Amino acid sequence: MDNSKHLDYFNTVCSPHSIISDSKLKKSWGDDWTKERKSGPNFVLLPQSTEEVSKILKYCYENNLKVVPNGGRTGMAGGAVACDDEIVISLDKMNKIIEIDTVSLSVCVEAGVITQNVQEQAKKNNLFFPIDLAAKGSCQIGGNIATNAGGLKFVAYGGMREQVIGLEVVLSDGTILDMNSNLRKNNTGYDLKHLFIGSEGTLGIITKARLKLVPKPRHLNVSCVAFEKFDDILSTLQQLHQKNFSLTAFEFFSAKAHKITKAYNQDSIEPFEKSYPFYGIIECDGDTNDSQLEEFLAESFENSHVSDATIASNSQEFANLWALRENISESLSNHGWVHKNDITVSIDKLSLFYQELEEFLTKKNHDFIDVILFGHVADGNIHINYTAKKTVTKEIFLEEVKKIEQETLHLVKKFKGSVSAEHGIGLIKKDILALSRSADEIRLMSEIKKSFDPKGILNPGKIL
Ligand code: FAD
Ligand code: MLT
Ligand code: ZN
Repeated sequence: MDNSKHLDYFNTVCSPHSIISDSKLKKSWGDDWTKERKSGPNFVLLPQSTEEVSKILKYCYENNLKVVPNGGRTGMAGGAVACDDEIVISLDKMNKIIEIDTVSLSVCVEAGVITQNVQEQAKKNNLFFPIDLAAKGSCQIGGNIATNAGGLKFVAYGGMREQVIGLEVVLSDGTILDMNSNLRKNNTGYDLKHLFIGSEGTLGIITKARLKLVPKPRHLNVSCVAFEKFDDILSTLQQLHQKNFSLTAFEFFSAKAHKITKAYNQDSIEPFEKSYPFYGIIECDGDTNDSQLEEFLAESFENSHVSDATIASNSQEFANLWALRENISESLSNHGWVHKNDITVSIDKLSLFYQELEEFLTKKNHDFIDVILFGHVADGNIHINYTAKKTVTKEIFLEEVKKIEQETLHLVKKFKGSVSAEHGIGLIKKDILALSRSADEIRLMSEIKKSFDPKGILNPGKIL
């Protein structure tokens, strides 16, 4: 590629220090949590306004240059991965919170704002932004929208799609599509913004968004609960719903997940005197005292659904209990090789699904691969993680994982579940898309892609 000609043009568009072509510096972009990158991006552009994004894309469109949008690069499907003839467009410098509206309960942001910053700004205004994930300190709102992120509070508030009121998007030819209104109701034909939510940068670059805020929870009570059986988790969930608890999160993790997390976090607490097969983190909104939850857990203990439980009594304990769950991903990455299946099945079938999953995993009982389970159980979303120490090569690890994974994924298909609940398809899950989507759905997706990006310059090779 004739870089100098293109760089000359981009220098006329971008502000100073917003083009990175140095091979060492550009290494921080064009990759994500999967570390799937084989080569680096050609160069990185860091626009500071929608107009700059528009001019960049118009030029790329006219010159057939391929671009890869980058948010916080915490994605788990290789969606932000760029190779050597591709240009990364990073939203890092478009990170302003434009306005918080405390009447309509909404916030307008540039796409590169870090998710945690939106949470903090909402809190300062006595409001709450409910998208919450362990990557919140690094991921960006644009990345959350492009992946339709789920996260820890989905059971109460839904995912990113449910939070988006309006969007501004730049199309592949540079057209600015302004759908960033603050209208809560607008049934005027197709609601195009929804196509961009979860499109993983393949249909347009999200530059601004207006998001819902909600009233701050009154008082969050959090408990860690021990379970002997997976079914006990589901019975407890059902009881919580039945008794009208205002559930804001219900997460689970296995004993193996807990053991690995403890090993890589010195400050990690041991919630109980003995170990249990499963643990849950239950968070609900309630009155300032937690007697209702305490009574519920005591009752569940008596009828044997719960084997032990502890409730946080101050903010430090609150953080300690949440850390047991939030530190799992990072601990797994420190432990060794990790390969992830992020699956959902409908909640009424979760018990049967788990039974069959456990049966074949017990049969397989691999000598160097451990299967670690955790996730958003109240949404039917289980993260099935295969891990091994780095004493084996990555190639051997992946070859072995493939054999186990195939059975897991076919079980998901049998249960009409999804092979990617919240992480997306990106680069690394393209081969399994057809397990959860019909040929007709995939054909329509391809037609949509062609009509939005006829030259195929936007995040090529991702999803389809
Ligand atoms: P990136 O990784 O940079 O990009 C993701 C995709 O979006 C790519 O395809 C990219 O091209 C595209 N993209 C990024 N910005 C834009 C834009 N402005 N316009 C168009 N396309 C864009 N995910 C969950 O759903 N739930 C969880 O609970 C969760 N927990 C996590 C915990 C940890 C520790 C980590 C590391 C990840 C976790 N994730 C989770 C995955 C990840 O954080 C989310 O997918 C997140 O939404 C990605 O945001 P990002 O800004 O890092 O996007
Ligand atoms: C989580 O729920 O912690 C995330 O989705 C990350 C992961 O699956 O590792
Ligand atoms: Zn998750």
